[in-house]
Amino acid sequence: MKNIQISPSILSADFSQLGIEIKRLEEGGADMVHVDVMDGHFVPNLTIGPPVIKSLRKHSSLKFDVHLMISPVDKYIEAYSDAGADIITIHPEATSNLSKSISKIKELKKKVGVSLNPETKTDIIKKNLKDIDLVLIMSVHPGFGGQEFMPEVLDKVRELKTVQKDQNLSFDIEIDGGINFENSKSAIEAGANILVSGTTIFKSNNGDIKKNIELLKSV
Ligand code: DX5
Ligand code: ZN
Repeated sequence: MKNIQISPSILSADFSQLGIEIKRLEEGGADMVHVDVMDGHFVPNLTIGPPVIKSLRKHSSLKFDVHLMISPVDKYIEAYSDAGADIITIHPEATSNLSKSISKIKELKKKVGVSLNPETKTDIIKKNLKDIDLVLIMSVHPGFGGQEFMPEVLDKVRELKTVQKDQNLSFDIEIDGGINFENSKSAIEAGANILVSGTTIFKSNNGDIKKNIELLKSV
């Protein structure tokens, strides 16, 4: 059984002091930092690019779990790798050849993740599962923090957990969007071992990050 890890999304952080916010996450016991990169094309929002990640890299030893909501994504992979990403997660709809994009990330010696939007079926990545380190299940439509959790995606988590066991694979299952103290237990029971959370971690309990991370883990 994999231990549960928390990857707080800095999308909900104070962007005017991201370096300090990432330090707060580290002191609060985060296992990694979820960096939501949005291009205003694949999703209707625009966030941060490689220069910001590069400057944040100097301020933290935490793993940067970089979620690229960019399309087409291939021509940007190297820039995020050079900026300091440790895990690079892409969406299958954002590349013309998923296997080649996965190989490109692995050649850069980074962990590779593939993200499934709520409406995307697991079939699209089944043949790639042996080559990837992480599947990111979106439990909201990507683009914004603070949205309502979509419980129907837990069926996909359960399905992937079964495939992982049947094929003796070891990819992480990460869930992303609307995770809070009420639904984290069901996400973990379904098979997720990494929880992404922005609003709950930065805004609950007067922004007590340490308490919020402990509460999410202690289900
Ligand atoms: C949405 C992002 C999520 C989101 C999670 O596109 O990928 O990571 O920021 O934030 P909350 O926890 O606020 O739903
Ligand atoms: Zn994300």
